[in-house]
Amino acid sequence: MSSNKKILILPGDGIGIEVMNEVLNVIDWMTKKKSVSFDIAKKLVGGSAYDIEGDSISDTTMDEALKADAVLFGAVGGPQWDNVERSKRPEAALLRLRKELDLFANLRPAVVFDALANSSPLKSELIKSLDILILRELTSGVYFGQPRGVEKINDFDEKAIDTQSYTTSEIDRIGRVGFDLAKKRSNKVTSVEKSNVMETGMLWRKTITKLHENEFNDVKLNHMLADNCAMQLVRKPKQFDVIVTDNLFGDLLSDVAAMLTGSLGMLPSASLGAINEKGKRPGMYEPVHGSAPDIAGQDKANPLAMIMSFAMMLKYSFDMLEDSKLIEKAIQNVLSKGLRTPDIKQGNEKAISTKEMGAAVIEELNIISGS
Ligand code: IPM
Ligand code: MG
Repeated sequence: MSSNKKILILPGDGIGIEVMNEVLNVIDWMTKKKSVSFDIAKKLVGGSAYDIEGDSISDTTMDEALKADAVLFGAVGGPQWDNVERSKRPEAALLRLRKELDLFANLRPAVVFDALANSSPLKSELIKSLDILILRELTSGVYFGQPRGVEKINDFDEKAIDTQSYTTSEIDRIGRVGFDLAKKRSNKVTSVEKSNVMETGMLWRKTITKLHENEFNDVKLNHMLADNCAMQLVRKPKQFDVIVTDNLFGDLLSDVAAMLTGSLGMLPSASLGAINEKGKRPGMYEPVHGSAPDIAGQDKANPLAMIMSFAMMLKYSFDMLEDSKLIEKAIQNVLSKGLRTPDIKQGNEKAISTKEMGAAVIEELNIISGS
């Protein structure tokens, strides 16, 4: 029987490879214990692909990604590729995937597990039970705006240009996703921009206001300037439910939000497109943490954000809500038992390795599913 769950696995570079190995064990577990059939293909991406295939993502791999039902992405980048030309840099693969799959909606939930309330640099009463969602626009803004480049002005001066641009429809479509998501949560959207200094910020505020008035006035909406939002996230994070923002502000604010949860190693993400003519929504799932070259290859990385990204895939791409919750529950239990990778340990707590954490999640899955 052919599977309708065709997953393309792209481990990438650095710790991406290590954390992906742990998620592959979880996928294996699901296949055996839950009789789900996934159709798995694995390809190179990022620096690893550049070294062997001459580009950070080959056309064949891109094609596979377009044909897959979902893409599971590890992380890309590392200092050894710092001098590679921009279009072939590891990060270029990520941007190409986002753009060609048209994954405009990037969901970055920041959830504080009770057991980790003391791992955050913020006081535990500020972040205990925190559950916020950063919704980042992912296919436009300054990441893709034209013109961009560097011009030589004279022997001394060069001029570098990036362009921040947004259209009404681009803002409208991400706004809709934000309001829809809020309805299933605490019904509150904070729209974040810099309308005090930027043209795109003014259009952003106008478009979200209009959309709210016309179609979503049952959802609570407030507007906030991006610098204030960064401050409010560390001052009083529980005031937020869904934060909707552009590509660059979303990049920055999601790193701030990650630290509220204790570690970047705890933040998963889903990047979703619009439902296509085949009735499918393209999706790519990746941890927010990146390739962490400083700890790569040392079996120290936290695999939980990667495993939670797979749980998001089950939820958003395959409608397997129960199984997605099962994985989250297993992670919650593992943390309650005091198991910690180095990034989330406190003081003299003993740290376990990437592989041990992965194995602990599998063991917990066995316990809670009674197998
Ligand atoms: C992220 C990352 C990427 C981004 C990099 C690796 C290109 O920081 O996904 O947040 O800037 O979008
Ligand atoms: Mg980032």
